[in-house]
Amino acid sequence: MEKSSKNSVILVTGASDGIGRELCLLYAESGAKLVLAARNQNSLEDLAKECERMGAEALAVRTDVSSPEDCKKLMERAVERFGRIDILINSAGVSMSAPFESLQDLSVFQKLMNVNYLGVVHTSYYALPHLKKSQGLIVNLSSLQGKTGFPRSTGYSASKFAVQGFSDSLRIELMGTGVDVLVVSPGPIATKMNFRKFDANGIIAQEEDSKAAKRNIMSPEECARLIARSISKRERELVMTFGGKLIPWIRLFAPAFVDRMIASAVEKFYSED
Ligand SMILES: NC(=O)c1ccc[n+]([C@@H]2O[C@H](COP(=O)([O-])OP(=O)(O)OC[C@H]3O[C@@H](n4cnc5c(N)ncnc54)[C@H](OP(=O)(O)O)[C@@H]3O)[C@@H](O)[C@H]2O)c1
Repeated sequence: MEKSSKNSVILVTGASDGIGRELCLLYAESGAKLVLAARNQNSLEDLAKECERMGAEALAVRTDVSSPEDCKKLMERAVERFGRIDILINSAGVSMSAPFESLQDLSVFQKLMNVNYLGVVHTSYYALPHLKKSQGLIVNLSSLQGKTGFPRSTGYSASKFAVQGFSDSLRIELMGTGVDVLVVSPGPIATKMNFRKFDANGIIAQEEDSKAAKRNIMSPEECARLIARSISKRERELVMTFGGKLIPWIRLFAPAFVDRMIASAVEKFYSED
């Protein structure tokens, strides 16, 4: 990873926090040229300074990925500063936790699609001409919830299925161009996303940190390392956790069993305190 990313221009959305932030720090160690995108400009500026202290070059660009104009400008700023884009990592995302029938505000579905799905479409569209020149890579953060449905997550899961379908289709269109598409499907990762989700009223609800901290789930550092390994091998899919890898196979002959397994895992997740 270290040698191949030394001079690479790596653009990360959702860089201000969580998995995106960890990926930036990981690539900063190897002296990459980083473009950091998210809405929180202060967090981006702080991260850019941290990456530069580690030996990387970093450019912070305030971006709302649900805006096509912002994404167009993001790519222009990246190319203006570094001359090219080698890897686009789409990590920006928002989540939800509410049973479908409890929803009081259906705009949650629009918001989830705008960020999780259309955000990926916007950045991919405007980065593509540059990625074709560099024979680069698009990395889309999906989820195990983009492989199979999860309760309390109808809108989130649907947005991640959309990311999977978009990525698989684009990969075929790009055959022979030298541009590859990697879809990453993590299980639960210990980031703020796990206690910062749209609730039934369409408001981002904050669960107590202490409750979330007790959950024994993969760290964002480990998640970032696994992603970087898949990037260096230019893989097309990274499905995290043993259970996650098994789900598609078990679903072939026992789909109702998978549903029950997921229902009980989600119930356990929310009852742990
Ligand atoms: N954590 C998990 O358990 C988990 C599991 C499977 C998949 N994933 C996926 O992994 C990705 C990263 O998740 P995470 O856990 O790192 O989440 P996180 O810690 O909540 O970070 C989300 C990032 O997305 C950015 N973001 C949100 N809305 C945005 C917008 N409209 N425009 C630009 N940036 C936006 C946030 O920054 P600003 O608020 O500054 O914009 C933040 O940097 C997401 O796509 C998520 O769906 C996460």
